[in-house]
Amino acid sequence: MAKVHLRKAYFIGIHVLLVIFIFTTLYASFPWIRVKVKELIDPADRVYTIAHRGASGYAPENTMPAFELALGMKADSVELDIHLTKDGIPVVIHDDTVNRTTNGKGYVKNMTLQQIEQLDAGSWFNEAYPMFARESYAGVRIPTLEQVFETFGKELHYVLEIKAPKPDRNIESIINDLIIEYDLEDEVAIHSFSASSLRKFHKLNPDIPLYQLIWYDYTAARVSDSFLADVKTYAVGIGPNFQSISATYVAQVRKAGLKVIPYTVNYQVNMDKAYLWGVDGVYTNYPDRFLEVIETNRENANW
Ligand code: G3P
Ligand code: CA
Repeated sequence: MAKVHLRKAYFIGIHVLLVIFIFTTLYASFPWIRVKVKELIDPADRVYTIAHRGASGYAPENTMPAFELALGMKADSVELDIHLTKDGIPVVIHDDTVNRTTNGKGYVKNMTLQQIEQLDAGSWFNEAYPMFARESYAGVRIPTLEQVFETFGKELHYVLEIKAPKPDRNIESIINDLIIEYDLEDEVAIHSFSASSLRKFHKLNPDIPLYQLIWYDYTAARVSDSFLADVKTYAVGIGPNFQSISATYVAQVRKAGLKVIPYTVNYQVNMDKAYLWGVDGVYTNYPDRFLEVIETNRENANW
C-alpha cells in the first residue's frame, strides 16, 4: 500500500516539475507570454512615456525644439529642469551653470534673465551630435518656464524638476503661481531629489502630483517600507535610477501604493525590461523608442 502511495507521489511530483519546466521555458522564450503573465498578475494601467528634457536624444535638451519633437512623437509628458535666475525668473536648464549647454559661462543663479536670454543653447548639440544636427538649432535660447507654458499650454503634460531649491528663494511658490496662472493644474506633475522642497510644494498645493527622485549608487534590491510610507505622505510616486532597480523593487513600490517611473531609460533592451517589470512609465531621451516598445509588447501579447 505504502509503495503505491510512493509511486503516486513520484508520478505527481515528476509531472509538476515537468509543467514548471515547460512553463519557464516558454516564459523565457516568448515575450507575449511574459506580457500576458504581467497583465494577469498586475493589470497594466497606463504606461507613461516621458520625454526627458524633451526629446533630448534628437534636439538640444530643455529647449523648444526638444519639446516640439516630443509633442510630435506623442510622448505623454515632457520633463524639464527648472532653476531660478538672479532676478528670480524660472528658466529651463539642467545644470546649475550654463557652461555645458550654451556658449556662455557662469552660474544661472548669478545671471539675470536678460543675460541668460543672450545665450546660444543649441550649437553645442550640433557639435556633439552631428547626426542629429539641424541649422535651426544654432542660436536657440534657454526658455523661461512661462514661455513654455505660453507656447504649449494644455497641448503638453509637464513633469517639472525643481533643481537647487533654497528656502530663501521660494522656487516652489513661484512655480505654483505660474501653474495656476496658466490653468495647468491637471497637466503638471513635479519631481525633485529634494524631499524638503517636495514637502513644501505639497503644503502649497496638495492637488499637484509629486514624485520623489532617488539616486542609488548601488543595486537596490529592496527599499525600506518606512521610507515608502514616509514618501506616501507627500508624493504619489518615486523616480529611481533604472540601472539600480529590479523587478522585485518595482513590485514592492507598487504594492506600497506608489507609482514607479525610473530614469533614464534609453536602450530598447532596458525599455523592454522596464515594461515587463510593470513600471508606470519611464523617462527617456528617445520617446519614440519607448512608444514602439509598448506597441510591440502589446501586439505580441495579442493571442
Ligand atoms: O527624470 C529624472 C531625471 O531628470 C533626474 O535626473 O539629472 O536628468 O535631472 P537629471
Ligand atoms: Ca531632470
